[in-house]
Amino acid sequence: MAVILPGVEMCVFDAYGTLFDFNSAVARHRRTLGPAADALSELWRTKQIQYTWLRNAMGAYAPFWQVTGEALDHCLAAHRIADPAARERLMGAYMALDPFPEAPGMLACLSRAGMRTAILSNGNPGMLDPMVTASGLANHFEAVLSVDEAGVFKPDPRVYRLVEARCGVTPDKVCFLSSNCWDAHGAAQFGFRTVWVNRTGAPDDNLPGTLSARIRDLSDLPDLIGVPR
Ligand code: LAC
Repeated sequence: MAVILPGVEMCVFDAYGTLFDFNSAVARHRRTLGPAADALSELWRTKQIQYTWLRNAMGAYAPFWQVTGEALDHCLAAHRIADPAARERLMGAYMALDPFPEAPGMLACLSRAGMRTAILSNGNPGMLDPMVTASGLANHFEAVLSVDEAGVFKPDPRVYRLVEARCGVTPDKVCFLSSNCWDAHGAAQFGFRTVWVNRTGAPDDNLPGTLSARIRDLSDLPDLIGVPR
C-alpha cells in the first residue's frame, strides 16, 4: 500500500467502536439477555450517541458515564427488562470493554517506530482509564484525553483542540482515527488528517470535512502512514 499520509507526528484514536468494541459488553451477558441482546446493544449505542448530540445542543454536558447509564435505562425499558442486576452487569462490562483483535498488534507496530499516540474520547476519565488499564494497552499511549476537560462532546471543535493544547502537536500533523463516521467528519472539518475506520462497510455520511482515507480495520494504519509492520 502506498504511503497516503506522510509526515504524521501523532496518531489520535477514538475509543469506543474504534479501539474498543462496545458490543463486547452485551456479548458477555448474551445468555442472560436472551434474543434481545443484539437489538439492545445497537439501541444502547444509538441512544448514547444521540444523547451526547442533544446535550451539546442544549448546553447540558454531563459525564459520558452518566449518559451511558441513561441511554441503557431507556433501552432496558424499551425491551421491558426490569432487572437492576442486568443494569449493573452491563455497566460493569462497559468499564472493561475488549479491544478489537487487531488493535494490540497495530499499537505495538506504532510504538516500535516511535510514533506518538493518544486517545481522544467522549468517555470521562473515570471510565476511560480503567478500561485502558484493563486492556493492557495503557503503555502505548502518551495521553488519554477526555472531552470532560472541554465540558462538551464531539464533534464540537473544542474537543479536537485538546490535542494541540495537551500534546503540542498541530492539527496538520495529526492522523485522527474513528470508526464513527460523524466523528471522523468532525475531526476532518476541524483540521486533522482523518481516517475513517469503516468496520461495517457503511456508506459515508454526507457531512462537512474531507476524509483523508478509509480503512476496514486498524491493521491497515501502519502502511497508510509509512510505519513498518
Ligand atoms: C468516543 C465515542 C465517540 O470514544 O466513540 O469518543
